[in-house]
Amino acid sequence: MFRDLDKLRAYYADAPEDIRLEDIDLERVPSHVSIIMDGNGRWATARGLDRSQGHVAGVDSLREAVTTSVRLGLDVLSVYAFSTENWRRPQREVDLLMHLFATTLVNELPLFHQENVRLRFFGDLTALPEQTRLVFQRGLDETADHTGMVFALAVNYGSRAEIARAARIVAERVAAGEISPNEVDESLLEKNLYTAGLPDPDLLIRTSGELRLSNYLLWQLAYTEFYVTDTLWPDFSRWDFLRAIASFQGRSRRFGGVVTS
Ligand code: FPP
Repeated sequence: MFRDLDKLRAYYADAPEDIRLEDIDLERVPSHVSIIMDGNGRWATARGLDRSQGHVAGVDSLREAVTTSVRLGLDVLSVYAFSTENWRRPQREVDLLMHLFATTLVNELPLFHQENVRLRFFGDLTALPEQTRLVFQRGLDETADHTGMVFALAVNYGSRAEIARAARIVAERVAAGEISPNEVDESLLEKNLYTAGLPDPDLLIRTSGELRLSNYLLWQLAYTEFYVTDTLWPDFSRWDFLRAIASFQGRSRRFGGVVTS
């Protein structure tokens, strides 16, 4: 993946004491990083603000995460923005989030153009308010020919629903006589997941200290390295991203096998 070293070094000037760009092996940067952005509500409540202010502040962290990922030369950045369970939140918060997704996407389109970022969505978008859906479609259309990093937003996403959907699509093809049951294998199921064609995440970051997957990418995270930080999402910076990558690079990935060298 393309990486502009001058821009990267400038972006990572003024290092804090514990982490510097030089601590990272740029030859072993993960291809796909996925983030569960958690803690917006707590960040706001701790400041005596409305929870919605936490989500608004979270947009700045997300922009920084996208820029960081482009600068580091990732192939894919994916983020969990709204789960199938998040509809249970107060209607006011759901409305705010849907509005925020739409306005943020419009506001960030120039960045996606400038950085050659291609948008993608994981999840069932048919249930979203029309305005949000239309803006998402515009984002997809306007970035379709971009060849740089893929930025995937999981919205109205649930992993069990995703796997059930893939099974249903495959079952329909079997029922129609297009394929036989013994052709159903991992690769066929994978082709029918929202993530089709993308590499599995190498690194999953979860902010705010929660140690659970919350129905996120259950299939795709089979061999992913996890990094959990107590930092709340609105406080998550380019330096926290670097700390996560440094931790990832300290791991020994065996994918169920043994290290041979
Ligand atoms: C989790 O924090 C965060 C969310 C459910 C929404 C994520 C949304 C953003 C980061 C805003 C920008 C996103 C886009 C795609 C423009 P929480 O509300 O669960 O926090 P809590 O656990 O402290 O309550």
